[in-house]
Amino acid sequence: MTTILVTGGTGTLGRLLVPRLRAADHAVRVLSRSAHEPEDGVEFVKGDLATGEGVEAAVAGAETVVHLAGSSKGDGEKAANLVKAAVDAGTRHLVYISVVGADRVPVVSGADRAMFGYYASKHAAERAVAESGIPWTTLRATQFHDLMLLTARQMAKLPVIPAPSGFQAQPVDADEVAARLAELALGPPAGLVDDLAGPRVYPLADLIRGYLRARGKHRAIVPVRVPGKAARAMREGANLAPDRAVGRRTWEEFLTDRVGAAA
Ligand SMILES: NC(=O)c1ccc[n+]([C@@H]2O[C@H](COP(=O)([O-])OP(=O)(O)OC[C@H]3O[C@@H](n4cnc5c(N)ncnc54)[C@H](OP(=O)(O)O)[C@@H]3O)[C@@H](O)[C@H]2O)c1
Repeated sequence: MTTILVTGGTGTLGRLLVPRLRAADHAVRVLSRSAHEPEDGVEFVKGDLATGEGVEAAVAGAETVVHLAGSSKGDGEKAANLVKAAVDAGTRHLVYISVVGADRVPVVSGADRAMFGYYASKHAAERAVAESGIPWTTLRATQFHDLMLLTARQMAKLPVIPAPSGFQAQPVDADEVAARLAELALGPPAGLVDDLAGPRVYPLADLIRGYLRARGKHRAIVPVRVPGKAARAMREGANLAPDRAVGRRTWEEFLTDRVGAAA
């Protein structure tokens, strides 16, 4: 039995991964910015990757570190702080979840950074992991259904929905990503593995329409041209992996389960 630290173990993906690692009979520790009581054999350590507080204690004795913690900004710095502590602690395998397009969405101008800075920060985090000297595995996934649903819910609050023209998405089920990550975390370090993408590519407006239909809502969707190099890369499909459409659960199936009505 080895100890596996999961950063982001309280998040959408982490909550699906942690039980899988426990089921494989490993001791699981979760790093969180809030205090939690131990539950189902999972130990929690309070810490913050943005400041480095508590990170040393979190990685101590963990042979494997699965780094899922993330937010819209600053993932490069969070990864660097984690890597520093993991090197000092002698971690043997560092597993990272990144996003499809991390290496293909150029973030150059202020306009790029405002909307797509996330991709640059994931790329910086990928580099921190790959250059750590610790044997590593990185998986890039497309957007999770849950995030797409959150986005659609927010947009549906508007009387008219602006949809960036030419943007597409290929949402994937977070549970399928968690299953793949469990396999990778329990296996040997594998470097950059094949992308994991959802079963279909959709125009962004169609994904929103699917949500509106499931909710019985009617909204006008207006195409909006987004400026900048990053937006152009998005229009060219930098965030998609059509040749890796290995996810099985579709957006429609997810919506039927989550929103209720036939999507
Ligand atoms: N969502 C997507 O569509 C998608 C697609 C591809 C890749 N990813 C990547 O997958 C990972 C997980 O995504 P998710 O949707 O599951 O995220 P989420 O639900 O938003 O959860 C974020 C997690 O990160 C932790 N976290 C955030 N800032 C932290 C900090 N400064 N220090 C320590 N922990 C911190 C949070 O823990 P506490 O709140 O408990 O501190 C929480 O567990 C992220 O790295 C994301 O970039 C996501």
